[in-house]
Amino acid sequence: MDKMWAGRFAKTLDKTADDFNSSLKFDCKMFAQDIKGSIAHATMLGACNVLPQADVDKIIEGLASILEDIKNGKLTFDNGAEDIHMFVEGELTKRIGDVGKKLHTSRSRNDQVALDLRMYVKDELAKIKTLLSELIGVLCDKAEQNLDAIMPGYTHLQRAQPITFAQHLMAYAMMFIRDVMRIDDTVKHMNLSPLGSCALAGTTYPIDRGITASLLGFDGYTHNSLDGVSDRDFCVETLSTLSLIMVHLSRFAEEIILWTSWEFKFMELDDSFTTGSSIMPQKKNSDMAELVRGKSGRVFGDLMGMLTVLKGLPLAYNKDMQEDKEGVFDALETVNMCLTVFTPMLATATVLKDNMLTAAKKGFINATDMADYLTKKGMPFRSAYKITGTIVGDCIAKGKVLEDLTVEDYKQYSELFDGGIYKAISLSECVSKRISQGGTAPSETKKQITYARKFAKIN
Ligand code: ARG
Repeated sequence: MDKMWAGRFAKTLDKTADDFNSSLKFDCKMFAQDIKGSIAHATMLGACNVLPQADVDKIIEGLASILEDIKNGKLTFDNGAEDIHMFVEGELTKRIGDVGKKLHTSRSRNDQVALDLRMYVKDELAKIKTLLSELIGVLCDKAEQNLDAIMPGYTHLQRAQPITFAQHLMAYAMMFIRDVMRIDDTVKHMNLSPLGSCALAGTTYPIDRGITASLLGFDGYTHNSLDGVSDRDFCVETLSTLSLIMVHLSRFAEEIILWTSWEFKFMELDDSFTTGSSIMPQKKNSDMAELVRGKSGRVFGDLMGMLTVLKGLPLAYNKDMQEDKEGVFDALETVNMCLTVFTPMLATATVLKDNMLTAAKKGFINATDMADYLTKKGMPFRSAYKITGTIVGDCIAKGKVLEDLTVEDYKQYSELFDGGIYKAISLSECVSKRISQGGTAPSETKKQITYARKFAKIN
Protein backbone atom coordinates (compact mmCIF):
# COMPACT_ATOMS: atom_id res chain seq x y z
CA MET A 1 0.00 0.00 0.00
CA ASP A 2 1.31 3.45 -0.95
CA LYS A 3 2.08 5.73 1.95
CA MET A 4 -0.06 8.83 1.92
CA TRP A 5 3.09 10.93 2.01
CA ALA A 6 4.66 9.02 -0.96
CA GLY A 7 4.67 12.14 -3.17
CA ARG A 8 7.57 13.71 -1.30
CA PHE A 9 9.80 10.60 -1.26
CA ALA A 10 11.91 8.99 -3.94
CA LYS A 11 12.20 5.65 -2.13
CA THR A 12 9.73 3.48 -0.29
CA LEU A 13 10.10 2.76 3.40
CA ASP A 14 12.38 -0.10 4.37
CA LYS A 15 10.34 -3.14 5.43
CA THR A 16 11.85 -3.39 8.89
CA ALA A 17 11.46 0.35 9.41
CA ASP A 18 7.86 0.07 8.27
CA ASP A 19 7.12 -2.71 10.76
CA PHE A 20 8.93 -0.83 13.50
CA ASN A 21 6.97 2.34 12.78
CA SER A 22 3.56 0.74 12.54
CA SER A 23 1.18 0.85 15.51
CA LEU A 24 -1.83 -0.81 13.88
CA LYS A 25 -1.31 -4.10 15.71
CA PHE A 26 -2.11 -2.42 19.02
CA ASP A 27 -3.94 0.81 18.23
CA CYS A 28 -6.59 -1.13 16.28
CA LYS A 29 -8.23 -1.45 19.70
CA MET A 30 -9.38 2.15 19.23
CA PHE A 31 -11.30 1.50 16.00
CA ALA A 32 -14.70 2.42 17.46
CA GLN A 33 -13.42 5.65 18.98
CA ASP A 34 -11.56 6.53 15.78
CA ILE A 35 -14.66 6.09 13.65
CA LYS A 36 -16.89 7.89 16.14
CA GLY A 37 -14.41 10.79 16.18
CA SER A 38 -14.31 10.88 12.38
CA ILE A 39 -18.09 10.92 12.12
CA ALA A 40 -18.21 13.87 14.52
CA HIS A 41 -15.44 15.61 12.57
CA ALA A 42 -17.24 15.15 9.25
CA THR A 43 -20.52 16.32 10.77
CA MET A 44 -18.81 19.48 12.00
CA LEU A 45 -17.15 20.10 8.62
CA GLY A 46 -20.63 19.95 7.06
CA ALA A 47 -22.18 22.25 9.67
CA CYS A 48 -19.40 24.79 9.11
CA ASN A 49 -19.70 24.56 5.30
CA VAL A 50 -16.13 23.33 4.96
CA LEU A 51 -17.48 20.30 3.08
CA PRO A 52 -20.75 20.01 1.13
CA GLN A 53 -23.41 18.09 3.05
CA ALA A 54 -23.68 15.48 0.27
CA ASP A 55 -19.99 14.59 0.80
CA VAL A 56 -20.43 14.48 4.54
CA ASP A 57 -23.37 12.10 4.18
CA LYS A 58 -21.33 9.78 1.99
CA ILE A 59 -18.41 9.87 4.42
CA ILE A 60 -20.61 9.10 7.41
CA GLU A 61 -22.32 6.26 5.58
CA GLY A 62 -18.94 4.82 4.62
CA LEU A 63 -17.59 5.13 8.15
CA ALA A 64 -20.69 3.48 9.59
CA SER A 65 -20.30 0.54 7.22
CA ILE A 66 -16.64 0.15 8.21
CA LEU A 67 -17.59 0.11 11.89
CA GLU A 68 -20.27 -2.47 11.21
CA ASP A 69 -17.90 -4.69 9.23
CA ILE A 70 -15.14 -4.56 11.84
CA LYS A 71 -17.65 -5.47 14.55
CA ASN A 72 -19.08 -8.41 12.64
CA GLY A 73 -15.64 -9.65 11.61
CA LYS A 74 -15.99 -8.99 7.85
CA LEU A 75 -13.18 -6.46 7.90
CA THR A 76 -9.83 -7.33 9.46
CA PHE A 77 -6.81 -5.14 10.15
CA ASP A 78 -4.48 -6.39 7.46
CA ASN A 79 -4.23 -3.75 4.74
CA GLY A 80 -0.67 -2.80 5.73
CA ALA A 81 -1.71 0.58 7.13
CA GLU A 82 0.58 2.40 9.52
CA ASP A 83 -2.01 2.88 12.22
CA ILE A 84 -5.75 2.72 12.90
CA HIS A 85 -6.25 6.25 11.57
CA MET A 86 -4.67 5.45 8.19
CA PHE A 87 -6.45 2.12 8.14
CA VAL A 88 -9.89 3.65 8.47
CA GLU A 89 -9.16 6.47 6.03
CA GLY A 90 -7.72 4.04 3.47
CA GLU A 91 -10.70 1.74 3.79
CA LEU A 92 -13.10 4.66 3.49
CA THR A 93 -11.53 5.80 0.22
CA LYS A 94 -11.66 2.26 -1.06
CA ARG A 95 -15.38 2.18 -0.33
CA ILE A 96 -16.58 5.65 -1.38
CA GLY A 97 -13.81 6.83 -3.70
CA ASP A 98 -12.20 10.26 -3.72
CA VAL A 99 -14.78 11.78 -1.37
CA GLY A 100 -13.10 9.70 1.33
CA LYS A 101 -9.95 11.73 0.83
CA LYS A 102 -11.82 14.82 2.06
CA LEU A 103 -12.31 13.49 5.59
CA HIS A 104 -8.89 14.57 6.80
CA THR A 105 -9.54 18.23 5.88
CA SER A 106 -8.61 20.43 8.81
CA ARG A 107 -7.36 17.54 10.92
CA SER A 108 -4.06 15.84 11.68
CA ARG A 109 -3.34 12.43 13.10
CA ASN A 110 -1.85 14.35 15.99
CA ASP A 111 -5.16 15.70 17.24
CA GLN A 112 -6.92 12.55 16.01
CA VAL A 113 -4.82 10.20 18.13
CA ALA A 114 -5.01 12.49 21.15
CA LEU A 115 -8.79 12.37 20.79
CA ASP A 116 -9.09 8.63 20.22
CA LEU A 117 -6.97 7.73 23.20
CA ARG A 118 -8.92 10.02 25.51
CA MET A 119 -12.19 8.50 24.35
CA TYR A 120 -10.84 4.96 24.71
CA VAL A 121 -9.53 5.61 28.22
CA LYS A 122 -12.83 7.22 29.26
CA ASP A 123 -14.79 4.19 28.01
CA GLU A 124 -12.51 1.71 29.77
CA LEU A 125 -12.44 3.66 33.02
CA ALA A 126 -16.24 3.63 33.05
CA LYS A 127 -16.11 -0.20 32.95
CA ILE A 128 -13.60 -0.28 35.81
CA LYS A 129 -15.81 2.03 37.82
CA THR A 130 -18.69 -0.42 37.46
CA LEU A 131 -16.45 -3.30 38.53
CA LEU A 132 -15.32 -1.34 41.59
CA SER A 133 -18.92 -0.59 42.55
CA GLU A 134 -19.70 -4.31 42.33
CA LEU A 135 -16.76 -5.08 44.58
CA ILE A 136 -17.90 -2.47 47.10
CA GLY A 137 -21.35 -4.09 47.05
CA VAL A 138 -19.87 -7.52 47.80
CA LEU A 139 -17.78 -6.05 50.62
CA CYS A 140 -20.93 -4.55 52.14
CA ASP A 141 -22.80 -7.87 51.91
CA LYS A 142 -19.94 -9.79 53.47
CA ALA A 143 -19.46 -7.16 56.17
CA GLU A 144 -23.13 -7.32 57.07
CA GLN A 145 -22.86 -11.10 57.52
CA ASN A 146 -19.80 -10.69 59.75
CA LEU A 147 -20.67 -7.80 62.05
CA ASP A 148 -20.22 -10.13 65.03
CA ALA A 149 -17.15 -12.01 63.74
CA ILE A 150 -14.38 -11.07 66.16
CA MET A 151 -10.84 -11.36 64.86
CA PRO A 152 -7.47 -10.05 65.92
CA GLY A 153 -6.65 -6.66 64.48
CA TYR A 154 -2.94 -6.40 63.72
CA THR A 155 -0.22 -3.81 63.70
CA HIS A 156 3.26 -4.92 62.61
CA LEU A 157 1.45 -8.19 61.85
CA GLN A 158 1.33 -8.72 65.62
CA ARG A 159 -2.02 -9.13 67.32
CA ALA A 160 -2.99 -5.68 68.49
CA GLN A 161 -6.66 -5.19 69.42
CA PRO A 162 -9.83 -7.13 68.71
CA ILE A 163 -11.86 -5.93 65.74
CA THR A 164 -14.63 -7.44 63.66
CA PHE A 165 -14.12 -8.95 60.25
CA ALA A 166 -16.80 -6.54 59.06
CA GLN A 167 -14.67 -3.58 60.12
CA HIS A 168 -11.66 -5.07 58.33
CA LEU A 169 -13.64 -5.52 55.12
CA MET A 170 -15.08 -2.03 55.26
CA ALA A 171 -11.56 -0.60 55.44
CA TYR A 172 -11.10 -2.00 51.93
CA ALA A 173 -14.49 -0.65 50.87
CA MET A 174 -13.25 2.84 51.79
CA MET A 175 -10.15 2.37 49.62
CA PHE A 176 -12.23 1.30 46.65
CA ILE A 177 -14.60 4.21 47.20
CA ARG A 178 -11.62 6.56 46.92
CA ASP A 179 -10.58 4.71 43.77
CA VAL A 180 -13.97 5.43 42.21
CA MET A 181 -13.64 9.08 43.22
CA ARG A 182 -10.19 9.18 41.68
CA ILE A 183 -11.54 7.80 38.41
CA ASP A 184 -14.10 10.61 38.37
CA ASP A 185 -11.37 13.18 38.97
CA THR A 186 -9.14 11.63 36.32
CA VAL A 187 -11.95 11.74 33.76
CA LYS A 188 -12.82 15.30 34.72
CA HIS A 189 -9.29 16.44 33.90
CA MET A 190 -9.22 14.71 30.53
CA ASN A 191 -12.71 15.69 29.49
CA LEU A 192 -11.74 18.36 26.96
CA SER A 193 -11.58 17.55 23.27
CA PRO A 194 -8.22 18.10 21.54
CA LEU A 195 -9.82 17.73 18.09
CA GLY A 196 -9.28 20.81 15.96
CA SER A 197 -5.81 21.45 17.40
CA CYS A 198 -4.77 19.90 14.06
CA ALA A 199 -1.05 19.24 13.60
CA LEU A 200 -0.03 21.74 16.29
CA ALA A 201 -1.11 25.27 15.38
CA GLY A 202 -4.83 25.09 14.67
CA THR A 203 -6.24 25.66 11.19
CA THR A 204 -7.25 28.30 8.68
CA TYR A 205 -10.58 26.54 7.99
CA PRO A 206 -13.64 28.04 9.68
CA ILE A 207 -14.19 25.06 12.00
CA ASP A 208 -16.14 24.97 15.25
CA ARG A 209 -14.41 22.83 17.86
CA GLY A 210 -17.38 23.19 20.19
CA ILE A 211 -19.50 21.09 17.82
CA THR A 212 -17.18 18.08 17.83
CA ALA A 213 -16.56 18.43 21.56
CA SER A 214 -20.26 18.29 22.38
CA LEU A 215 -21.05 15.58 19.80
CA LEU A 216 -18.40 13.40 21.48
CA GLY A 217 -19.54 14.05 25.04
CA PHE A 218 -16.71 16.31 26.19
CA ASP A 219 -17.20 19.24 28.56
CA GLY A 220 -15.48 21.53 26.06
CA TYR A 221 -12.28 21.74 24.02
CA THR A 222 -8.63 22.16 25.00
CA HIS A 223 -7.52 25.77 25.21
CA ASN A 224 -4.18 25.66 23.44
CA SER A 225 -3.53 23.81 20.18
CA LEU A 226 0.06 22.83 21.08
CA ASP A 227 -1.05 21.52 24.46
CA GLY A 228 -3.98 19.76 22.79
CA VAL A 229 -1.68 17.50 20.76
CA SER A 230 1.19 17.21 23.28
CA ASP A 231 -0.70 16.50 26.47
CA ARG A 232 -0.58 12.98 27.82
CA ASP A 233 -1.17 13.94 31.44
CA PHE A 234 -4.39 11.99 31.21
CA CYS A 235 -2.39 8.81 30.55
CA VAL A 236 -0.21 9.43 33.59
CA GLU A 237 -3.23 10.21 35.77
CA THR A 238 -5.04 7.13 34.51
CA LEU A 239 -2.03 4.91 35.20
CA SER A 240 -1.59 6.43 38.63
CA THR A 241 -5.27 5.86 39.44
CA LEU A 242 -4.97 2.29 38.18
CA SER A 243 -1.76 1.78 40.17
CA LEU A 244 -3.52 2.73 43.39
CA ILE A 245 -6.33 0.30 42.61
CA MET A 246 -3.64 -2.37 42.26
CA VAL A 247 -2.00 -1.28 45.52
CA HIS A 248 -5.33 -1.81 47.26
CA LEU A 249 -6.06 -5.09 45.51
CA SER A 250 -2.57 -6.39 46.23
CA ARG A 251 -2.85 -5.59 49.94
CA PHE A 252 -6.20 -7.34 50.06
CA ALA A 253 -4.83 -10.26 48.03
CA GLU A 254 -1.92 -10.59 50.43
CA GLU A 255 -4.28 -10.78 53.41
CA ILE A 256 -6.42 -13.38 51.67
CA ILE A 257 -3.30 -15.43 50.99
CA LEU A 258 -2.40 -15.22 54.68
CA TRP A 259 -5.95 -15.92 55.85
CA THR A 260 -6.23 -19.01 53.67
CA SER A 261 -2.95 -20.47 54.96
CA TRP A 262 -3.02 -23.28 57.53
CA GLU A 263 -1.32 -20.92 59.97
CA PHE A 264 -4.33 -18.57 59.95
CA LYS A 265 -7.29 -20.49 58.51
CA PHE A 266 -9.56 -17.46 58.78
CA MET A 267 -10.99 -18.02 55.33
CA GLU A 268 -11.47 -20.73 52.76
CA LEU A 269 -11.74 -19.89 49.10
CA ASP A 270 -14.23 -21.72 46.95
CA ASP A 271 -12.82 -24.61 44.92
CA SER A 272 -13.80 -22.75 41.77
CA PHE A 273 -11.30 -20.00 42.59
CA THR A 274 -8.35 -22.10 43.77
CA THR A 275 -5.92 -24.53 42.20
CA GLY A 276 -4.17 -27.70 43.26
CA SER A 277 -0.54 -28.73 43.04
CA SER A 278 0.93 -30.99 40.38
CA ILE A 279 2.80 -32.97 43.03
CA MET A 280 1.45 -32.25 46.53
CA PRO A 281 -2.04 -33.73 46.80
CA GLN A 282 -2.99 -31.78 49.94
CA LYS A 283 -2.46 -28.36 48.37
CA LYS A 284 -5.16 -25.80 47.72
CA ASN A 285 -3.48 -22.69 46.45
CA SER A 286 -4.80 -19.13 46.36
CA ASP A 287 -3.48 -18.61 42.83
CA MET A 288 -5.99 -15.93 41.87
CA ALA A 289 -5.07 -13.76 44.83
CA GLU A 290 -1.36 -14.34 44.17
CA LEU A 291 -1.76 -13.38 40.53
CA VAL A 292 -3.58 -10.20 41.46
CA ARG A 293 -0.76 -9.39 43.89
CA GLY A 294 1.81 -10.12 41.19
CA LYS A 295 0.06 -8.22 38.42
CA SER A 296 0.33 -5.00 40.42
CA GLY A 297 3.97 -4.92 39.30
CA ARG A 298 3.17 -4.57 35.62
CA VAL A 299 0.71 -1.73 36.22
CA PHE A 300 3.30 0.21 38.24
CA GLY A 301 5.74 -0.50 35.41
CA ASP A 302 3.28 0.92 32.89
CA LEU A 303 3.11 4.13 34.94
CA MET A 304 6.87 4.41 35.14
CA GLY A 305 7.19 3.73 31.40
CA MET A 306 4.73 6.49 30.58
CA LEU A 307 6.47 9.05 32.77
CA THR A 308 9.78 8.16 31.17
CA VAL A 309 8.42 8.54 27.64
CA LEU A 310 7.13 12.01 28.43
CA LYS A 311 10.06 13.32 30.42
CA GLY A 312 12.02 15.95 28.51
CA LEU A 313 9.90 15.58 25.37
CA PRO A 314 9.83 18.85 23.41
CA LEU A 315 6.53 20.26 22.11
CA ALA A 316 4.52 19.35 20.16
CA TYR A 317 3.93 15.80 18.80
CA ASN A 318 6.90 13.42 18.70
CA LYS A 319 6.75 9.83 17.56
CA ASP A 320 7.84 8.78 21.05
CA MET A 321 4.23 9.41 21.95
CA GLN A 322 3.13 6.37 20.01
CA GLU A 323 4.59 4.53 23.02
CA ASP A 324 1.77 5.89 25.19
CA LYS A 325 -0.76 3.30 24.17
CA GLU A 326 0.46 -0.20 25.00
CA GLY A 327 1.13 0.58 28.66
CA VAL A 328 -2.22 2.28 29.07
CA PHE A 329 -4.04 -0.59 27.32
CA ASP A 330 -2.16 -3.15 29.39
CA ALA A 331 -2.94 -1.43 32.68
CA LEU A 332 -6.63 -0.97 31.83
CA GLU A 333 -6.94 -4.60 30.79
CA THR A 334 -5.01 -5.88 33.81
CA VAL A 335 -7.10 -3.95 36.33
CA ASN A 336 -10.29 -4.99 34.57
CA MET A 337 -9.25 -8.66 34.66
CA CYS A 338 -8.13 -8.53 38.27
CA LEU A 339 -11.40 -7.01 39.43
CA THR A 340 -13.42 -9.42 37.31
CA VAL A 341 -11.82 -12.37 39.12
CA PHE A 342 -11.36 -10.84 42.56
CA THR A 343 -15.00 -9.94 43.25
CA PRO A 344 -16.54 -13.40 42.72
CA MET A 345 -13.55 -14.98 44.50
CA LEU A 346 -14.38 -12.88 47.54
CA ALA A 347 -18.13 -13.33 47.22
CA THR A 348 -17.81 -17.15 47.25
CA ALA A 349 -15.24 -17.35 50.07
CA THR A 350 -16.21 -18.91 53.39
CA VAL A 351 -15.36 -16.95 56.52
CA LEU A 352 -14.17 -19.19 59.37
CA LYS A 353 -15.43 -17.11 62.29
CA ASP A 354 -14.53 -19.64 64.99
CA ASN A 355 -10.89 -19.70 63.96
CA MET A 356 -10.80 -15.92 63.95
CA LEU A 357 -12.20 -15.84 67.47
CA THR A 358 -9.76 -18.48 68.68
CA ALA A 359 -6.87 -16.44 67.32
CA ALA A 360 -8.27 -13.32 68.97
CA LYS A 361 -8.38 -15.08 72.34
CA LYS A 362 -4.65 -15.61 72.32
CA GLY A 363 -2.03 -12.91 72.30
CA PHE A 364 -3.31 -10.47 74.95
CA ILE A 365 -5.15 -8.32 72.46
CA ASN A 366 -7.37 -7.04 75.27
CA ALA A 367 -4.43 -5.55 77.19
CA THR A 368 -5.30 -2.01 76.06
CA ASP A 369 -8.75 -2.51 77.50
CA MET A 370 -7.25 -3.57 80.83
CA ALA A 371 -5.20 -0.37 80.90
CA ASP A 372 -8.33 1.62 79.96
CA TYR A 373 -10.25 -0.10 82.79
CA LEU A 374 -7.72 1.11 85.37
CA THR A 375 -7.59 4.55 83.77
CA LYS A 376 -11.36 4.90 83.95
CA LYS A 377 -11.06 4.14 87.69
CA GLY A 378 -8.75 7.12 88.12
CA MET A 379 -5.24 5.80 87.44
CA PRO A 380 -3.16 7.90 85.00
CA PHE A 381 -2.98 6.08 81.64
CA ARG A 382 0.82 5.72 81.66
CA SER A 383 0.74 4.03 85.10
CA ALA A 384 -2.12 1.77 84.02
CA TYR A 385 -0.15 0.90 80.87
CA LYS A 386 2.87 -0.06 82.96
CA ILE A 387 0.93 -2.25 85.42
CA THR A 388 -0.85 -4.00 82.54
CA GLY A 389 2.50 -4.62 80.86
CA THR A 390 3.80 -6.23 84.08
CA ILE A 391 0.68 -8.43 84.31
CA VAL A 392 1.09 -9.51 80.66
CA GLY A 393 4.78 -10.29 81.25
CA ASP A 394 3.94 -12.37 84.34
CA CYS A 395 1.19 -14.23 82.47
CA ILE A 396 3.53 -15.08 79.60
CA ALA A 397 6.12 -16.37 82.09
CA LYS A 398 3.49 -18.59 83.71
CA GLY A 399 1.81 -19.70 80.48
CA LYS A 400 -1.47 -17.97 81.35
CA VAL A 401 -3.81 -15.47 79.70
CA LEU A 402 -5.39 -12.45 81.37
CA GLU A 403 -8.73 -14.18 81.90
CA ASP A 404 -7.05 -16.92 83.99
CA LEU A 405 -6.11 -14.59 86.87
CA THR A 406 -8.38 -14.35 89.95
CA VAL A 407 -9.51 -11.03 91.45
CA GLU A 408 -7.02 -11.66 94.26
CA ASP A 409 -4.25 -12.10 91.72
CA TYR A 410 -5.24 -8.81 90.15
CA LYS A 411 -5.41 -6.98 93.44
CA GLN A 412 -1.73 -7.71 94.01
CA TYR A 413 -1.04 -5.38 91.10
CA SER A 414 -3.59 -2.68 92.03
CA GLU A 415 -6.35 -2.21 94.58
CA LEU A 416 -8.45 -0.68 91.82
CA PHE A 417 -9.17 -4.11 90.31
CA ASP A 418 -12.49 -5.77 91.14
CA GLY A 419 -14.80 -8.37 89.54
CA GLY A 420 -15.70 -5.92 86.77
CA ILE A 421 -12.36 -6.56 85.09
CA TYR A 422 -13.59 -9.72 83.38
CA LYS A 423 -16.39 -7.93 81.58
CA ALA A 424 -14.07 -5.05 80.70
CA ILE A 425 -11.63 -7.36 78.94
CA SER A 426 -14.15 -9.72 77.33
CA LEU A 427 -13.58 -9.58 73.60
CA SER A 428 -17.18 -8.82 72.70
CA GLU A 429 -17.13 -5.91 75.14
CA CYS A 430 -13.80 -4.68 73.76
CA VAL A 431 -15.37 -4.55 70.31
CA SER A 432 -18.88 -3.31 71.08
CA LYS A 433 -17.59 -0.48 73.28
CA ARG A 434 -15.46 1.03 70.53
CA ILE A 435 -18.23 3.33 69.44
CA SER A 436 -16.06 6.30 68.54
CA GLN A 437 -16.97 7.49 65.03
CA GLY A 438 -15.57 5.02 62.51
CA GLY A 439 -14.72 2.56 65.30
CA THR A 440 -15.04 -1.22 65.19
CA ALA A 441 -18.30 -1.43 67.21
CA PRO A 442 -20.99 -3.06 65.02
CA SER A 443 -23.14 0.07 65.42
CA GLU A 444 -20.38 2.13 63.77
CA THR A 445 -19.56 -0.45 61.10
CA LYS A 446 -23.24 -0.49 60.12
CA LYS A 447 -23.03 3.23 59.36
CA GLN A 448 -20.06 2.56 57.10
CA ILE A 449 -22.03 -0.10 55.26
CA THR A 450 -24.92 2.31 54.73
CA TYR A 451 -22.53 4.96 53.41
CA ALA A 452 -20.72 2.53 51.10
CA ARG A 453 -23.94 1.01 49.76
CA LYS A 454 -25.32 4.42 48.90
CA PHE A 455 -22.04 5.38 47.24
CA ALA A 456 -21.91 2.20 45.15
CA LYS A 457 -25.51 2.66 44.05
CA ILE A 458 -25.10 6.17 42.68
CA ASN A 459 -21.74 5.43 41.08
N1 ARG B 1 0.28 6.22 15.29
C1 ARG B 1 0.57 7.53 15.76
C2 ARG B 1 0.61 7.54 17.28
O1 ARG B 1 0.12 6.63 17.83
C3 ARG B 1 -0.44 8.51 15.31
C4 ARG B 1 0.04 9.89 15.20
C5 ARG B 1 1.02 10.02 14.10
N2 ARG B 1 1.40 11.36 13.87
C6 ARG B 1 2.50 11.69 13.22
N3 ARG B 1 2.77 12.93 13.08
N4 ARG B 1 3.31 10.76 12.73
O2 ARG B 1 1.15 8.42 17.89
